[in-house]
Amino acid sequence: MKKIKLAVLGCGDRGNVYASYALSHPDEAEVVAVCDVDPVALKSTGDKYRLPENMRFSSIDAFLRAGVKCDAVINATMDPAHYETTKRLIKAGYNQLLEKPVVNNAADLYELRDLAREKGVSILVCHVLRYTPFYRSIKQAILDGKIGKILTMEMNEHVGTVHFADSFIRGKWSDEDVCGSGLLLQKCCHDTDLMCWLNNATVPAAVSSFGERAFFTEDNAPEGATEFCYNCPCAGECLYNAQKIHLGLDNLPFQTWRGIGKHYTEITREEKEVYLRVSDYGRCVFKLKRNLADRQMVTVRFRNGSMATLTVVGGDVLPGRDINIVGSKGKIQGRMEDNVFHIYTISRENDGYKNVTETVDVTAQLGDGRHGNGDVCLMHDYVRYLNGDRSSISITALDDSVNGHLCVYAAEKSRKEGTFVPID
Ligand SMILES: NC(=O)c1ccc[n+]([C@@H]2O[C@H](COP(=O)([O-])OP(=O)(O)OC[C@H]3O[C@@H](n4cnc5c(N)ncnc54)[C@H](O)[C@@H]3O)[C@@H](O)[C@H]2O)c1
Repeated sequence: MKKIKLAVLGCGDRGNVYASYALSHPDEAEVVAVCDVDPVALKSTGDKYRLPENMRFSSIDAFLRAGVKCDAVINATMDPAHYETTKRLIKAGYNQLLEKPVVNNAADLYELRDLAREKGVSILVCHVLRYTPFYRSIKQAILDGKIGKILTMEMNEHVGTVHFADSFIRGKWSDEDVCGSGLLLQKCCHDTDLMCWLNNATVPAAVSSFGERAFFTEDNAPEGATEFCYNCPCAGECLYNAQKIHLGLDNLPFQTWRGIGKHYTEITREEKEVYLRVSDYGRCVFKLKRNLADRQMVTVRFRNGSMATLTVVGGDVLPGRDINIVGSKGKIQGRMEDNVFHIYTISRENDGYKNVTETVDVTAQLGDGRHGNGDVCLMHDYVRYLNGDRSSISITALDDSVNGHLCVYAAEKSRKEGTFVPID
């Protein structure tokens, strides 16, 4: 297997997650160039991979001008930059590992897909959950025919209080108009992708959805709450107190402190305290005027009559994803965070009619990567894919990632227009 040369466009959290595979697997991959418009991110990532100055680029223009030779570019820019950067990289002939969501509308999605086909470059989308031992083993069980034909699927994604506040109320995905992605596209294009991948004996045919922001609103602010948490009389009781979350837990520090303009490891406690008095990260979650939904339900009808539902809600004290698939010969039930699922079937041996439960525990397959080890497993498969190995059942080629995105676009149309939406 040849060692893969990677360039990183967008050296934030995700770019570094994927690139770090080259540090843990130096025989398989190396980072040869980095590009970021933010000088702090560019320097820290360039230093991490010990790159010379001429392999550090402060814009995509400079990167493209230099004609860097590599096997693929990890495109981990933020959502609104995906369309433009992906298109330019395709035109320049680069294969890409592209962060999800690809883009926020079907026309742009098809345009990028067609352009990639025309130029003969591959685009793999970072639907990391497909690569987790949990979902991959469920897919394998379906492929092995254990539950027969899929009749229905129920999926839930419950986003935890802290993560929801961090990223979707205070953070960079909190407003659809700014980020370009709603809750479903941002958080659940993984789930709609899983839905379409697990059920890919067919394709989605129609979608309906309800969703709104109904809890993180001013009416639900505790009595006497102030605009910022640092001087709020409700700080002791409130689950969303910013000082507790950001100074105490210091959850997602690379994200929260980014606005300070230094690498997060160099920021002092005093600087953080001052920042929380002025930044959105210090504001009351109920008083921030943002438009992201905080719950949504989606129903998908597939062409062969099978059906699936997805519920997403922000602010659950016990976060996690669970799945319940009913098939013609059995069912699969499990919760990703448990790393265990059960396959229920019926045995008719010797004229009996007996319930059989097979428990699949994937704990032994877990490493220390985020997203149930999906991040690391994705890179493992991607390096092999770039070497011509097509054996992974998870591979998220753009062609194969279209349906999950189409479900999201249709669900958003349904939610906003109050109608059900066919998928052509
Ligand atoms: N697969 C997943 O599970 C998952 C999880 C979280 C985020 N994401 C997605 O990953 C992407 C990146 O998220 P993140 O949290 O790493 O964001 P981030 O803000 O930490 O990193 C993005 C980086 O891109 C840089 N950048 C922006 N525009 C650029 C441009 N035109 N050229 C070069 N650099 C540019 C920014 O300066 C920043 O350093 C987003 O699309 C996000 O939605 C995916």
